[in-house]
Amino acid sequence: MSGFGGMTPAERLEHVPAIEDLSRLAKRRMPHFAWEYLDSGTGFEAAIRRNRDCLDQVLFKPRGLQGEIRPELSTELFGRKYDLPFGMAPVGMTGLMWPGAELMLARSARRTNIPYCLSTVACETPEDVGRTAGENGWFQLYTFADWAINEDLLKRAGDSGFSVLVITVDLPAPSMRERQRRAGLRVPPKITPQFIANVLARPAWALATRKRGKPAFRMLEKYLGGEDMRDLPKFLADQQVGTLYRWKDLARFRKLWKGPIVIKGLLDTEDARCAVEEGMDGIVVSNHGGRQFDGAPASISVLPEIAETVGGKTAIVFDSGVRTGLDVLRALALGADFVLAGRPYLYGAAAHGEAGADHVSHILATDLANNMVQLGVSRLSQLRGLAVA
Ligand code: GLV
Repeated sequence: MSGFGGMTPAERLEHVPAIEDLSRLAKRRMPHFAWEYLDSGTGFEAAIRRNRDCLDQVLFKPRGLQGEIRPELSTELFGRKYDLPFGMAPVGMTGLMWPGAELMLARSARRTNIPYCLSTVACETPEDVGRTAGENGWFQLYTFADWAINEDLLKRAGDSGFSVLVITVDLPAPSMRERQRRAGLRVPPKITPQFIANVLARPAWALATRKRGKPAFRMLEKYLGGEDMRDLPKFLADQQVGTLYRWKDLARFRKLWKGPIVIKGLLDTEDARCAVEEGMDGIVVSNHGGRQFDGAPASISVLPEIAETVGGKTAIVFDSGVRTGLDVLRALALGADFVLAGRPYLYGAAAHGEAGADHVSHILATDLANNMVQLGVSRLSQLRGLAVA
C-alpha cells in the first residue's frame, strides 16, 4: 500500500487493523526462502498451532459498570520504565527477512520506548544497533564454546549501550525445520537457481538488499576471520553455538555483564527454580515460537505453574505466538511481567519498513487497551488472576 508511512497511526489502523494483514503483505514482498525461515516451525508445526490454540483458550468474564476505564499501559522492568508492557523478541537473520530490519526495529523501539532485543545471529553489528537502540537495546546471546568469544561479544554489547543480556538456552542443537530445508535456505545462503528465482520474484527486496549489502552474520565476522562466510557451518558446529551445558556456567556471565541477565527458553518449573537459585534477574517462558521442539507444550499453558514456582523472585517475560493485544493481556493475567513478540515485528518491517514496525506496536497497544476496557480494568496489575479458564 503506497503512502503508509505518511498516514497517521489511526489511519493506518483503518487499513491494516491486525498483524495478519501485515503478514499477508510481508509474504508477498519477501523471497520464499526468507518467508519460510521466518514463518516456519519444525516437524508438523504442532507447537505453533498449540501456542495459538492455548492462547485462545484463556478466557475472561468482562465486568460491567466499573466506572470510567482509562487503561494505563506503561510498566517498569529491570529498573526502567517502558511505555508498553511488550517489546521485540530476538529473531535470527533479521536482515535476510528485510534488509536493514535490525536498524529499523531498533529505531522504532526507541521511538516507542519499548525494548528491542538483537539476536547474536542477526545481520548487523552490536556497535551499529546499540548506538541506534540506546537504552532500549537488549542483547541476546547464543553461547560459544570458546569463552574468549563470549567475553568479547559481551564487551562489545556493553560498550555499545545494550542494557539487558538475554541468554538463550533452548537451542542445544539446530532443529529440523523442514520448511527451511525445502525452501533451499542454507547457512550461509547458497546461490542456486531456486535462490535466484526467489529473489527475482521479489524486486523490492532485491533492490533493498543491493543498497544494504549481502546479508551476513556481521556480528560474527570478526571471529570468522573476515567476510568470507564459507567457513561458517564449521565455525558454528565447532563452537557448539547455543549449547550451554550446566546451570553453574551462568555464574561466569555475572562477571562479564554488569546489567540484568535474563535466561530465555524455559518451560519447566524446575528450570525456573534453578534460574532463581542462580540469581537470574529474569526468565523468558518460551518454546522458541515453536521452532525448536514440536513436542513442547504451549508456553502459555506452563506460565501459571512457573509464575507460582517463581513467586515474584525473578521477573517473568513471556513469548511464543503473541499476535494480538489480547494475547499480551492473557500472558500478563497468567503471571508474566512483560511480553515479547518476534515474528509480528518482522512482518511489519517487511510489509511497510520502519512505519510497519511502529504499526505493530500500535496494533498491539490499541488492542490491549481496548480489551482492558472490555474487561473493566484500568491497570495492568489488576489483570493478574482474572482469567477464568
Ligand atoms: C533463531 O533463533 C531461530 O529461531 O531461527
